[in-house]
Amino acid sequence: MAIRFALPLLIFTGSSLAQDPSDILQYVDPLIGASNGGNVFPGASLPYGMAKAVADTNSTSNQGGFTLDGSPVTGFSMMHDSGTGGSPSLGNFALFPYTSCPGGDINRCAFPKKTRANFGAFDNTSVSAKPGTFGITLKTGIRAQMTVAQHSALFRFTFPETSTIGEAAQPLILQDLTDLSNSRQDNGTVSIDENTGRITGSARFLPSFGQGNYVLYFCTDFSGAEIFDNGIFADSRASTSVKNMTISRSINGYPLPGGAFVRFKSGAKPIVARTATSFISVEQACRHAESEIPDFDFDRISQAATDQWRAKMSGIKVSTKGVDESLVTNFYSGIYRTYINPQNYTGENPLWSSGEPYFDSFYCIWDLFRSQIPFLIINDPNTVAQMIRSLIDTYRHVGWLPDCRMSLNKGYTQGGSNADVVLADAYIKGLEGDINWEDGYAAVVKDAEVEPFDWCCQGRGGLDSWHTVGYIPVQDFDWKGFGTLTRSISRTLEYAYNDFCIAEMAKASGRTTDAEKYTLSSGNWRNLYKENQTSFWWNGTDTGFTGFFEPRYLNGTWGYQNPLNCSNHDNFSVCSLQNNGPETFESSIWEYGFYVPHDQATLITLYGGPDRFVDRLNYLHDQNITYIGNEPSFLTVFQYHYAGRPALSAKRAHYYIPEFFRTTPDGLPGNDDSGAMGSFVAFSMMGLFPNPGQNVYLITPPFFESVNITNPLDPSKVARIRNVNFDPTYKNIYIQNATLDGVRFTKNWIDHRFFTEGKELVLTLGEKESEWGTKVEDLPPSLGEYEGFGNSSSSSSSSGYGSGSTWNSSTAGTGGAKRIRGWLREDVGLGSI
Ligand SMILES: *[C@@H]1O[C@H](CO)[C@@H](O)[C@H](O)[C@H]1NC(C)=O
Ligand SMILES: *[C@@H]1O[C@H](CO)[C@@H](O)[C@H](O)[C@H]1NC(C)=O
Ligand SMILES: *[C@@H]1O[C@H](CO)[C@@H](O)[C@H](O)[C@H]1NC(C)=O
Ligand SMILES: *[C@@H]1O[C@H](CO)[C@@H](O)[C@H](O)[C@H]1NC(C)=O
Ligand SMILES: *[C@@H]1O[C@H](CO)[C@@H](O)[C@H](O)[C@H]1NC(C)=O
Ligand SMILES: *[C@@H]1O[C@H](CO)[C@@H](O)[C@H](O)[C@H]1NC(C)=O
Ligand SMILES: *[C@@H]1O[C@H](CO)[C@@H](O)[C@H](O)[C@H]1NC(C)=O
Ligand SMILES: *[C@@H]1O[C@H](CO)[C@@H](O)[C@H](O)[C@H]1NC(C)=O
Ligand SMILES: *[C@@H]1O[C@H](CO)[C@@H](O)[C@H](O)[C@H]1NC(C)=O
Ligand SMILES: *[C@@H]1O[C@H](CO)[C@@H](O)[C@H](O)[C@H]1NC(C)=O
Ligand SMILES: *[C@@H]1O[C@H](CO)[C@@H](O)[C@H](O)[C@H]1NC(C)=O
Ligand SMILES: *[C@@H]1O[C@H](CO)[C@@H](O)[C@H](O)[C@H]1NC(C)=O
Repeated sequence: MAIRFALPLLIFTGSSLAQDPSDILQYVDPLIGASNGGNVFPGASLPYGMAKAVADTNSTSNQGGFTLDGSPVTGFSMMHDSGTGGSPSLGNFALFPYTSCPGGDINRCAFPKKTRANFGAFDNTSVSAKPGTFGITLKTGIRAQMTVAQHSALFRFTFPETSTIGEAAQPLILQDLTDLSNSRQDNGTVSIDENTGRITGSARFLPSFGQGNYVLYFCTDFSGAEIFDNGIFADSRASTSVKNMTISRSINGYPLPGGAFVRFKSGAKPIVARTATSFISVEQACRHAESEIPDFDFDRISQAATDQWRAKMSGIKVSTKGVDESLVTNFYSGIYRTYINPQNYTGENPLWSSGEPYFDSFYCIWDLFRSQIPFLIINDPNTVAQMIRSLIDTYRHVGWLPDCRMSLNKGYTQGGSNADVVLADAYIKGLEGDINWEDGYAAVVKDAEVEPFDWCCQGRGGLDSWHTVGYIPVQDFDWKGFGTLTRSISRTLEYAYNDFCIAEMAKASGRTTDAEKYTLSSGNWRNLYKENQTSFWWNGTDTGFTGFFEPRYLNGTWGYQNPLNCSNHDNFSVCSLQNNGPETFESSIWEYGFYVPHDQATLITLYGGPDRFVDRLNYLHDQNITYIGNEPSFLTVFQYHYAGRPALSAKRAHYYIPEFFRTTPDGLPGNDDSGAMGSFVAFSMMGLFPNPGQNVYLITPPFFESVNITNPLDPSKVARIRNVNFDPTYKNIYIQNATLDGVRFTKNWIDHRFFTEGKELVLTLGEKESEWGTKVEDLPPSLGEYEGFGNSSSSSSSSGYGSGSTWNSSTAGTGGAKRIRGWLREDVGLGSI
């Protein structure tokens, strides 16, 4: 499976480990982001695996289960999400071990999660996390190691010979019916088989950022020691004579502790617990366990998991020559995190039956569409094809594409219908793999045309207004569908871009009328641009910039939101999905002021030309108005390319990495969001950043002397980027000139064929900004025309989307359509209101 390259001699700086120097896995540190709100799942998982085993702590930031913030362990469980906000996800049916119960009395072992936390302290140095395995030693002396297959996990507990109070080991392992967020509903059930010690059961839980509920089943077996006795516990009391229980949630809002336990005659050898889950049935959970891990062989299973990771990650090779090892670790660890979520639940979907794949934990597409899914399109296109089939199948059976989905439920929509971007991105990049694009197109058009009754969790709200006035009004009048009436600015901007993506799909599939229609509405962002809007700091100082998006009422009158509210400097506003939230979601008008991914040319003109645009982008970053710990910031790092200043994008990438993205547990600036941050790091360091939904990668010099990216569908095609004059101290970060497959190349962007066809980009670097990539004809495509670029050889040689010279040639096939100035909306009469 693994695609291996012959590597040149690698020179490591720092503490080089005595390992195969070409083994990428040595550079993966799953603990990055495991504290300080990164919420990363640092445990054992397969790529996209459903089983994710780790030690759960009682941290208030335990969304990913484990944290390294000093909080004690409360259990060991095998279902998790990674990097998410919201409530903690999953973490169901935790196991917990004791060396013995004091005096041999089971009632003196602590069963409830709250009390067993007192036995969960550990030393940070005892934690070992590697792709596919996780280990930790509790202060009770118990070492817990875990590894996984697709739906099942092995937990190997090694006990000290005597307990902390000197009694001979008579280990007890309990399994309880809680989850991380204590969301269990009526009725949990648990049974234990007296003879074998097999524990089975199920319970209903709530998703962590959405509506509805889900039922999860489990099946646990033990190996390694003879069973002494077993039974059931309820709250803090246990009995060996009861073997089955159905438990209520209780009435005080906290689920009653309950579960089963097994005691063993000796702890001389490690005891291995094998547990599996299923959303279908106990029987299916047991089948997973028996078929995936028939032998309880921890070393075999962990080796298999490691091998899967090595194969998955072998497609990208960088030269580590001269580079600080922590940067290599940063890079590969970021890549690793992009493969944790979404999760492959194919065969595990109880909601509908279909032959299509089913993926879950799109958590959330608002985060993932920007760089994670684009990263996977390059490096794991087969899997993205399965994800897209799953999204389309979800549309078929649920009615709409999801914006967020976890634990079989609809998650909350944060902005637009951004699955449209994911589908368009895949479509225009030519992703293959049995995707029904007719249904895919119908799904994105439904987003644009049909308002759901409840648009909390799918589709778009305010479509009547959108179609009549061409923006989402603040305090919209909408009597057809219901949702939180905030975020009118960011929703307008995202809907506009979503429509552009639909237009691209329409154009590329020959649907000319639709292409024109959605190109036109993709200009709706313009309707919220208030050209005389100023921006002052709270202390009264003028930012010096005029012209911002502002809220607008249905009658056309402007509302007002301070353009700096919800920026990094605003510690007071509520800025998320609260019903008293602002008109921009989780960021400021300042930052959303750049979110016109398809028409930077027009935006640049509105902002006073390229120099003024660059001033504004600099101000956004230099004044820390942007917050690099949340996804809307990603593209702003690279938008200098559109103003003909690709050098400044490179400079900005180095400003943020590693300063804001470090290789420590507290090294992430915000939630990793299922690998969104990880993919941001990976793309930035690779030197190609996507403008997602467009066949465009913005070129900056990689942080390494060279990068090789193998096309997974055709390993003979290896895309290469090589830096000439590479300088690992990063003084030479400016491209002086470039060649593509040996031919001089001046465009500051490249399309997806670079990867699929395995081209070679050679960048010659220098210490100073150069002319490279600065001319109008070098700029990435934009719907409108670039104006005011003094250095252009001719302003008519714009690389506009309509010009036919860019994306048409590779994918569209409809020839050069006439240029549509999408934002001119005289026909829908802003003048009339
Ligand atoms: C473990 O490390 C975290 C940070 O990584 C720190 O906050 C915590 O206090 C440490 N715990 C101990 C017991 O040192
Ligand atoms: C976690 O458990 C420890 C030990 O019982 C306790 O001191 C701490 O308050 C708990 N933290 C939370 C957030 O519940
Ligand atoms: C829960 O179990 C009890 C006892 O068997 C039963 O009366 C009740 O109807 C059950 N509730 C649900 C929601 O199934
Ligand atoms: C208890 O659970 C076992 C399965 O572990 C099952 O065979 C048995 O019928 C159950 N007994 C009762 C009374 O529900
Ligand atoms: C990339 O591939 C080329 C050609 O096979 C090889 O010479 C080079 O060493 C590779 N670079 C890395 C970093 O693996
Ligand atoms: C997802 O799971 C299904 C069923 O086990 C399997 O056929 C498919 O190959 C998996 N997809 C990936 C990307 O691993
Ligand atoms: C800004 O422009 C609007 C019209 O778009 C106008 O009503 C308003 O008076 C102007 N404000 C200032 C301060 O000039
Ligand atoms: C006001 O605040 C801004 C942003 O923090 C700062 O740049 C500026 O210097 C401050 N002005 C005064 C007069 O303190
Ligand atoms: C438009 O509606 C807003 C909000 O209700 C109101 O404040 C404003 O006066 C209205 N403008 C006109 C011209 O009626
Ligand atoms: C800006 O945020 C502050 C809280 O920081 C709030 O009081 C104010 O109403 C907001 N202003 C606007 C115009 O949104
Ligand atoms: C922005 O943040 C960086 C890093 O935290 C800091 O060094 C810099 O002083 C900040 N700049 C402003 C203007 O606040
Ligand atoms: C690229 O730039 C380097 C350094 O300025 C120069 O030596 C080289 O000749 C240039 N190559 C081309 C093809 O322009």
